[in-house]
Amino acid sequence: MNFTQGNKVVLIGDGAVGSSYAFALMNQGLCDELIIVDLNEDKVKGDTMDLSHGIAYAPTAMKVKKGSYQDCSDAAIVVITAGAAQKPGETRLQLVNKNVAIFKSIVTNVMDSGFNGIFIVASNPVDILSFATLKYSGLPKERVIGSGTILDSARFRYLLGEEFDTAAISVHGYIIGEHGDSQFPAWSSANISGAPLAQKLTEERKEEIAGMAREAAYEIINAKGATYYGIAMGLARITKAIFRNENVVLPVGTLLEGEYGHSGVYVGMPSVITRAGVKRIVELSLNEEERQKLSQSVRTLKDIQDSIFE
Ligand code: NAD
Ligand code: LAC
Repeated sequence: MNFTQGNKVVLIGDGAVGSSYAFALMNQGLCDELIIVDLNEDKVKGDTMDLSHGIAYAPTAMKVKKGSYQDCSDAAIVVITAGAAQKPGETRLQLVNKNVAIFKSIVTNVMDSGFNGIFIVASNPVDILSFATLKYSGLPKERVIGSGTILDSARFRYLLGEEFDTAAISVHGYIIGEHGDSQFPAWSSANISGAPLAQKLTEERKEEIAGMAREAAYEIINAKGATYYGIAMGLARITKAIFRNENVVLPVGTLLEGEYGHSGVYVGMPSVITRAGVKRIVELSLNEEERQKLSQSVRTLKDIQDSIFE
């Protein structure tokens, strides 16, 4: 493999999401070295000290240090959680101009270090910022992974688990498309142990569950200002799948290249993750209604993307 191996992670962005991800990495013993970079150096200083004081009780002797972009030169994964977050009532897409500008500078700085690993992007709007990372880095699409609908799908599985009194881990289903307001559940493939779920619910109940998953972020932001634990677990899951070469299917943000007739846009799609990044997209057998919803999601993102990148 002609890209950086090992398991050093550089985290750019030490806010609510970044610090929760750092804590998840440490708790799960997923890397040997974590370097944290943020404009707010005091926050990084405080978090690296605080996290390091937990190492005595962690599963591995992970080193956590404050660093700079130079540290990306031999990093296997750079995770970006930096940038503005939504205020109550704001949509993810409203963050786009501010965060694309921040990403241009961050990704350029990372690449200037000689970075030759895998990017995981979580900042919003994540689909547009994953595309921006692909453009600004020049890395192959396999190595630029968005968090996509990993969180939305986890919310969906949790809600279905509650509905059918079954552990979320045994519920299989994906929310696909934009990590945002045009996302939708692929009901036609949702199942528990292979038993399809769509027929067990009324149309009204399906709409309610899809709505609860879609609106969850707004509800959490209204309640406590930000969401971070759910996405931190999702980012840790992607990190683990890469480092352990799991060949597992996760709903991440990846570039469409002809799948379902769409190209040139990042959306959340079940994808096979290995040590080399996204190996391939798993194409679901979507019904006509789901295909139309996907087209709408792609159009929403493309309109914004085209206004910025063309
Ligand atoms: P936050 O405000 O708590 O943290 C953002 C951090 O980024 C701050 O520490 C800030 O200093 C830092 N930062 C800003 N510009 C920077 C730069 N140029 N270089 C380095 N650091 C910089 O925000 P948060 O709640 O942690 O959210 C971070 C991002 O993650 C937001 O865009 C949010 O919308 C997104 N998010 C995504 C998901 C998802 O599912 N993908 C879930 C939750 C939040
Ligand atoms: C989420 C963020 C805000 O929790 O994108 O879905």
